[in-house]
Amino acid sequence: MTYKKVNSAEAYIAKVGEMVENGLEKFLVAEGDNPTQLAEAMRYSLLGGGKRIRPVLLFAAHESVNGNFANALPVACAIEMIHSYSLIHDDLPAMDNDDLRRGKPTNHRVFGEATAILAGDTLLTTAFSLLSNKKLYQKIDDSLLLEIISIIATASGINGMAGGQMLDILAERSAIEEENLLIEIHKKKTACLIAASLKVGALLGGASEKQTAALEKYGMEIGFAFQVADDLLDVEGSVDLLGKEIGSDVQRGKLTYPALYGVEKSRSHLHSLIESALETISFFDEKATPLRLIAHYIGYRER
Ligand code: IPE
Ligand code: IPE
Ligand code: MG
Ligand code: MG
Ligand code: MG
Repeated sequence: MTYKKVNSAEAYIAKVGEMVENGLEKFLVAEGDNPTQLAEAMRYSLLGGGKRIRPVLLFAAHESVNGNFANALPVACAIEMIHSYSLIHDDLPAMDNDDLRRGKPTNHRVFGEATAILAGDTLLTTAFSLLSNKKLYQKIDDSLLLEIISIIATASGINGMAGGQMLDILAERSAIEEENLLIEIHKKKTACLIAASLKVGALLGGASEKQTAALEKYGMEIGFAFQVADDLLDVEGSVDLLGKEIGSDVQRGKLTYPALYGVEKSRSHLHSLIESALETISFFDEKATPLRLIAHYIGYRER
């Protein structure tokens, strides 16, 4: 892993994506995924798809502080499992009721709701089983590992992703048009787990307090921007590139940036978030090149 080898965000994403794909397969097997319907459903959503942007950002943060990559993979894979669980549940009829994800029928459309719920639950518990399995790490300090587990749990729970998903559902068709609520939803449901990915990548790399704080802040900004881009893609994206249906936010009456401000204003907000994120890490040297490339990528992404 060296920053010199890539000159585009896409190349970096492809490189880390391949490592993560192999890691996920290996860790699932290590957890003993017997060939049951549950294992099949977990594999269906976890493997062979997705941008792996959270692991990518974890690696890029780690690289920016000159980390040695010794323990990055199990942590990155655990975060991807949590993300994958969140998507399976997000697509359920009781939530966003979506039929297409990553160009394939959603988990519950293939395996049924009961299995999809259990696959999500099990990906979440497997993530923490993986995170706390010391055999999967090279030498790692117990207190550092505990801190990392706590950061990821907090980012996924009531004050993070799950709490944000609750607010997102409650705001549906509520006629509430409050910017503060929209900000809270986007931060919690999406930015918190992205910021946690950067923070743990930094901590695993031995970052200073100043570096860690900056990377976490960059993570909140870029994570927020990532969800604004997702909202925009739901309005003007291509189903083929995205692999999910568009227009589903309008159909569900979701509180999103385009719903509140229209496409143009949302796009300029997206760009200002990316500028702030770049400014936040401006004191880093060229080892932060992947982070800078990814920030731009989030501004122009089409999938
Ligand atoms: C989709 O996440 C849900 C959001 C938080 C916007 P991604 O866009 O990271 O989904 P995949 O993993 O690449 O499919
Ligand atoms: C989902 O946001 C955020 C999650 C935590 C899963 P969306 O509901 O907008 O994500 P997509 O558009 O279905 O991928
Ligand atoms: Mg949703
Ligand atoms: Mg959704
Ligand atoms: Mg969306």
